[in-house]
Amino acid sequence: MSKTKSVSKLKVLGIAGSPRRDGNTDLLLHQVMAGVASQQVQTKTVILTQLNIAPCRHCDGCLKTGKCVVDDDMQWLHTDLREADRIILASPVFFMGLTAQTKAMIDRCQALWIMKYVLKLPVPINPDKERRGFFISVGGTKLSNLFQPAIATIKSWFTTLDIKYDGELVFSGIDEKGAITKHPTALKDAFAAGQQLVTVNLLK
Ligand SMILES: Cc1cc2nc3c(=O)[nH]c(=O)nc-3n(C[C@H](O)[C@H](O)[C@H](O)COP(=O)(O)O)c2cc1C
Repeated sequence: MSKTKSVSKLKVLGIAGSPRRDGNTDLLLHQVMAGVASQQVQTKTVILTQLNIAPCRHCDGCLKTGKCVVDDDMQWLHTDLREADRIILASPVFFMGLTAQTKAMIDRCQALWIMKYVLKLPVPINPDKERRGFFISVGGTKLSNLFQPAIATIKSWFTTLDIKYDGELVFSGIDEKGAITKHPTALKDAFAAGQQLVTVNLLK
């Protein structure tokens, strides 16, 4: 039997990337965050559709400093992303990729890519702490490769942030708003995933 404990001082950041409020990925994210909170870990959730995040202009304004020159909500979100011990990103599949809101946020992390690969500076605020990331998604169709393009983007983004990809919870054939509530295990799986994300195995 494995012995585990939760780490209550963790900073856990949830990011809701769907433009549809209270839709399927929102419901899944809510359950993952509830699983995290059940371990006495504090959570913060940001809803991208409520934020002002312009697309990256590739102006190279970040090239010398690693700081983005576009003054919008991405300024404080960069700090949250650099501080978080766990990042949980939820986005449905839109045209085989992430939503525009999610992709704009990821592209704006080009400043952090510059920080890491050009300026050779640490992206995490606490580089010694383990950082883990998790991806939640749904898609309306049942294509076999439905989530692969999105997962490739998420992995590339987590690598830039020095975050270990900890896995995903994805469901195909989920289209109508709220359809995920009819899935036999999805919401329970999401709660369990949240618990697991903030639990460390003491016997490893
Ligand atoms: C603009 C747009 C593009 C979409 N593209 C796809 C797609 O490529 N593949 C797919 O399976 N579902 C696609 N869908 C369906 C959504 O993934 C599906 O409705 C999902 O349940 C929405 O999740 P949400 O409720 O969290 O917003 C698309 C929906 C929209 C609005």
